[in-house]
Order: sequence, then C-alpha cells, then structure tokens
Amino acid sequence: MSKTDHARLEQDRLELQAQLDSQKTRAARNKLGQFATPTALATDILEYAGSILGNKEPIRFLDPAIGTGAFYSALLRAFPATRIERATGYEIDTHYGQPAAELWDGTGLELNHMDFTRQRASSKFNMLICNPPYVRHHHMANEEKGRLQLASMGAAGFRPSGLSGLYCHFLALSHAWMSEGGVAGWLIPSEFMDVNYGQAIKRYLLEKVTLLHIHRFDPNDVQFADALVSSAVVWFRKSPPPKHHQVKFTFGGTLAEPALSREISIPALSAETKWTRFPALNVRDRYTGGVVSDFFKIKRGIATGDNSFFILSKAEIAARGLPMHAFRPILPSPRYVKVDEIDSDKHGVPALDRRLFLLDPGLPEDEIRKQYPALYAYLQEGKERGLHDRYLCRNRKLWYAQEVRPPAPIVCTYLGRGDAKNGRPFRFILNKSAATVANAYLAMYPTLLMERAMKADPTIIRRAWEVLNRITPETLLGEGRVYGGGLHKLEPKELANVPVLELMDMIPTIERPQTQTEIFELVAAE
Ligand SMILES: C[S@@+](CC[C@H](N)C(=O)[O-])C[C@H]1O[C@@H](n2cnc3c(N)ncnc32)[C@H](O)[C@@H]1O
Repeated sequence: MSKTDHARLEQDRLELQAQLDSQKTRAARNKLGQFATPTALATDILEYAGSILGNKEPIRFLDPAIGTGAFYSALLRAFPATRIERATGYEIDTHYGQPAAELWDGTGLELNHMDFTRQRASSKFNMLICNPPYVRHHHMANEEKGRLQLASMGAAGFRPSGLSGLYCHFLALSHAWMSEGGVAGWLIPSEFMDVNYGQAIKRYLLEKVTLLHIHRFDPNDVQFADALVSSAVVWFRKSPPPKHHQVKFTFGGTLAEPALSREISIPALSAETKWTRFPALNVRDRYTGGVVSDFFKIKRGIATGDNSFFILSKAEIAARGLPMHAFRPILPSPRYVKVDEIDSDKHGVPALDRRLFLLDPGLPEDEIRKQYPALYAYLQEGKERGLHDRYLCRNRKLWYAQEVRPPAPIVCTYLGRGDAKNGRPFRFILNKSAATVANAYLAMYPTLLMERAMKADPTIIRRAWEVLNRITPETLLGEGRVYGGGLHKLEPKELANVPVLELMDMIPTIERPQTQTEIFELVAAE
C-alpha cells in the first residue's frame, strides 16, 4: 500500500469515527470511555514508539482498546508493511469494532470483538500502544472491581486500589501481554501521578519495568480535544530498571520536541508523592538524582585577613611565648599536603611535616592584655602593621577573631590545572584531624541526610570520599570555570551541583527521605 492509500484510509477512518460517535450519546460514550486519539497525536506516538524500539526488530503490535484504530492506522503510516509481523486489537463495542474491522479488512489486522480484560494473555507483543477506556471507579460495580484487582495481581504482581479507574487495570493486565524487552506507550490521565490510587501504579513503573519517559500535555495547548487536556503519555520497557536509571519527564510542546524536559532518578521518584511536580523547577530538584550538595554543605575555608600573621608554626608560637590554647590546628596550603588522607595525633593535630596553627583567642583585647601579655604584644604588632584596618578585619567584632569553621571530614582543593600531572585538577582530602582550613580549600560538611547515614554506617564517609575522588575531571570541570593559562577553579556552588549518583546508592534506603514533608523538613533544617 502506498502513502496516499494510508492517508486515504486515515481519512475514511476519521469520517467513520465522526459518524459512529454521532450515533451515540455523550453519556453512552462516557460509560465505555470512548474518546478517540487525534490523528496527529497518534502519529507522534507511533513514531516515538519506533524511536524507542529501534529500527530492526520486527513489530508485534497490540492495542487492547482499539476503537476504530487510530493507532493501528498510525502504525501503518509509520512503518513499512514488511516490518509489521503482527497487529492485534481488542474492542468490546461492536458499534465501533464491526465497521473498523471492515475498514481494515485485508490489511493484516486481527481485530477481536471481545472484552480485553477477560482474555487469556499471550506474551507476544513488543509494541503495546493504548488509549484505554477512562471509566472512573464509581462507575464500576464492586464485583467487577474485585475481579479486575485479582486479574491485575496475577498479570503484573500488584493490586490496583479500589479507587482505580478501569485504565489502571488495563495497564496492569497488559503486562502479561508484553514480550520481555518490549515497549509500551500509554495515553492515560495524568491524575495517577499525584493521587493515592496512583501509588501502586507508580511502584509498578519504578520496580517492575524500566520507566522511560512521561510526557504531559500543556492544558493551555489548544491542539487537543478537552478529553485530553490532563493526559500524559507513559513510556516503559518490560525489563528491570538498570542501575542509576534516569526517567525523562517532559511537559508541553510535542512528545518529540517538548517545551520542558528533565531527567529524574528513581530514588527521587520514589521519594516524591506528586510526580506532576516534574519537570518544573522547585526545591525538590536537589533530590533529583544526587548532587554533591545532597550529601555535603560546602563552605569556603577561612579568609584570615593575613595568613602570615594569623597562621603560625609551633616553633613560632613557642619562640614568642604565646599561649597554645589561643590557637587551633589548620591545614597548610594544598601544595604542602601531598597525601589524600590526613591522620591526626591524639590532640587532633594533623600528622603532616608542616604543622600550623590559627590564632583565634576568642577573648576581648582587654582580657588578653591582663591574662596574656605576650599575645597582647603580638596583637599590637599586628595593629602596627595596620591589619586591624584592613577590610576583613575591621568588619569583625574583634578584629582578630576568625570565622567559625569547624574541622570538615572532607576538604577539597578547588584551584587546579587541567593538565596537572596526576590528571586530577582538584583533590578531595579525607581529614581525620581537628584542623580547620583556610580559603585555599573548600570545606565539606555532611548534610543531615549524610549525618543520618553516617550514624547508621560509620564507614560511609570514607566510601563517600572514594566516590568523590573517582569523579572524572571532565565532570568536575564541566561545572567549574577555566581561567587563563589553563587554571581551573571550582566555586562552592559549582561543586554543589556536580552529580554523584553513586552516593545516593550508598545511603541506606531507610535513611533516604521518604515523603515530601520529610524532604521539606530536611531542606528547611539545613
Ligand atoms: C479511549 S478509546 C480509544 C480508542 C482508540 N484506540 C483511539 O485511540 O482512538 C477506548 C476504547 O476502548 C473500548 N473499550 C472499553 N472497554 C473495553 C474492554 N473491556 N475491552 C476492550 N475494549 C474496550 C471502548 O469501546 C473504546 O473504543
């Protein structure tokens, strides 16, 4: 059959559809969920199905609620006849089924005038496309619901809630009709994404199959009839989800060219009760797959005001007779730290050749004058150099007081050369000492999520550090900036946005935020 034949057949089908629809009341059509898919959308859907299935496999097509065959018609237009090995449809209502069978006679369609939900499944189909009847649960008799729940359980291993519409049962029952690796595209109400009865379906989509893509139409888009305004197209493959799988959520525009698009991880989807929040931007996006800031709060190290004055060695402190307790350990500049793991003595001082201390007495000058004359004299020296008048110092309550920056378990060297000899422009250092850091480092403090996980499993911080050091320079640099001469710099915000899927996997499931409220609490508590 030629392209023009296909176009003419579609024209005939549309006329038939209009004629058959007009012979029924709206109420009667509602009862069986009889609303046809517009031609343009059916075309988009079949073309998209082809892009997911690949261009080799012979197609075994099933539409469990075929109507006059909008999808079958699009199938014929989208693929050469030689690729279509089999095409099957079910239709309960002979009002549509009979004329449709006549229209498609001789094209190879096997159209069964039967109730799909009562058929014995045969798992032969690798392309299942369906706009199932949207019959609400309160139009279904209790007995019927019970029968469908049982059948769904048998087919897909989950029991749709009693509040589920007929389309949920269609989806569950169809599982048994798909061949392993086959793809399904469902044009269904987007309601399931948010409401309670949708939970079971969402779990099925996340656990039993590989959810590929959910596209929602923009209700303001005039191209669809009113029945479709709140619809979504749900695409999945019948195979278990691969590790680190991301699901595409799109909105508006068309399936192939959506207005908004975003990849969302399975943990983020499990944690979110309202899927229609995706793909729009919101606070929850921090959990869309694990970025560094999900696990670490990132702070720049201390800007002392003058390292040569505020940072001293033990020998210098001793030579000037300064009180040791006015100091706390601080890491030397990264070029003096050759190791990636810093051990500590029993006082928390880093086990490094170069041991340095930050002056941070935390007492007013008057007190210091009375109690520690040597330290007072040292501060006066600083004043003579004009330190107390420098921008940083003069804006402090005590000009010599330092910012609060407790020791961080992981610190990052954030200035590096892309061609550094070890191939790593930035280093993550496991800091087991009580040393703070100056601003040649970024300090990484565990978030509440990470703290909870560390309590459950203390080894997690070391494993997290290993993961961070495995992040490829390209991934890190992708977020960072390049300065003249090949110098790379990673700002705290940029490091915060580096994806680390591996880390989310490490967090025991039980520690992950489970509900939206919990996530908001976590975010608010940070
Ligand atoms: C939303 S329409 C979709 C029709 C067509 N596939 C399309 O996309 O235009 C749903 C169709 O499913 C049929 N249907 C309703 N219950 C059914 C059942 N239990 N078994 C098979 N078909 C059913 C309706 O008669 C209707 O034609």
